[in-house]
Amino acid sequence: MIKVDPEKCLRCGACFRDCIVEVLKPDEQGFPSLAPELEKYCLNCQHCLAVCPAGALTCHGVTPEQCQPIGELPPPEMMGNLVRQRRSIRQYENENLAPETLVQLKKILAWSPTGCNVHNLIFRMVDDKEEMEHFRREMSESLKFYIRTGLMGLMYPGFKRYMKEVLNGKDVIFRNAPHMIAAFVPKNAPCAEADPWIALSYFDLYAQSLGVGTCWSGFAVHAFKWNRRLKKKLGLPKGYRIGAILLFGKPAVTYQRAAAPENYLVYS
Ligand SMILES: Cc1cc2nc3c(=O)[nH]c(=O)nc-3n(C[C@H](O)[C@H](O)[C@H](O)COP(=O)(O)O)c2cc1C
Repeated sequence: MIKVDPEKCLRCGACFRDCIVEVLKPDEQGFPSLAPELEKYCLNCQHCLAVCPAGALTCHGVTPEQCQPIGELPPPEMMGNLVRQRRSIRQYENENLAPETLVQLKKILAWSPTGCNVHNLIFRMVDDKEEMEHFRREMSESLKFYIRTGLMGLMYPGFKRYMKEVLNGKDVIFRNAPHMIAAFVPKNAPCAEADPWIALSYFDLYAQSLGVGTCWSGFAVHAFKWNRRLKKKLGLPKGYRIGAILLFGKPAVTYQRAAAPENYLVYS
C-alpha cells in the first residue's frame, strides 16, 4: 500500500515525521516502511506522498507523477476579498451554468477534508434547471399541503413566518436557483455533522471565485426530510442522510461593497 523507491529515497525522514497515525517507520537502513500489521491503521491521507522531497513514495497506488505540482496561492488580500465579498445569492439568471463550469465545480468536491479521512460523502448535483424546476414545483405543492393541514406549524414552528410567502408562490426553499448540490453523509460517519458543511463551504468559495453565486438552504435540508418521494428522486442512498444543501447559479445581482458584519467576540 506504501511503496518506496530506494533509488530515489533520501532517507530524510520527512515522510514518517509527518505520518499522523505513526505507522510509517524507518527500517534498519532508514528507509520508510509500513509493517503489514499496521496497514489497517493507515488513513491514506497521502501526507507521506505529498511531503517527500524526492518523489520516492507511492501511496495506495498514487504515484508522485499523478499528483498536481504545487501552484501559486492567492495572496492574502485577494483571499480576504473572496471571504469578505461572498454573499448569499437569492436572485439568479434563469439559465444553466456552462458545462465546463459544472465540471470544474464537481472536481473540487474531492478536495475537502473529512474527519478520520473517511471521504465517504456522496454528492448529488442538479445540473439542469429543468430538473430543478421539477423539485421546485413538487416541493412547493408538498409545503402548501403541510401548511394548509396545519402540520407545518407542528413540525417546524420556525417556518411559521414564511408560510404566507409559500402560499403566495414564493420559492423560499430553492430561491429560484437553477442548480443545487446536496451532500449526503453516512449516518454513522465519525464526523457526520461537520463533513458535509466543510465540503460545501470549500465548494462555495471556489464557486464564488468562478463568478458563480451560491446560497445555503437549511430549509431545503428540512423540507426534503418531510417528502420521502422527493428524497428518493434526489437519490439519497440507504444509510445516508442529507447533510447540507447549497443552491447555486449565475447571479442576477451585483454588490457594490463588502458590507461590514457585526464583529464576533474573539478572545485571546
Ligand atoms: C447553516 C445555514 C443555513 C442557511 N439556510 C438558509 C436558507 O434556508 N435560506 C436562505 O435563504 N438562506 C439561508 N442561509 C443564508 C443566511 O441566511 C445568510 O448567510 C445570511 O442571510 C447573511 O447573508 P450573507 O450570506 O450574504 O452574508 C443559511 C446560512 C447558513 C450558514
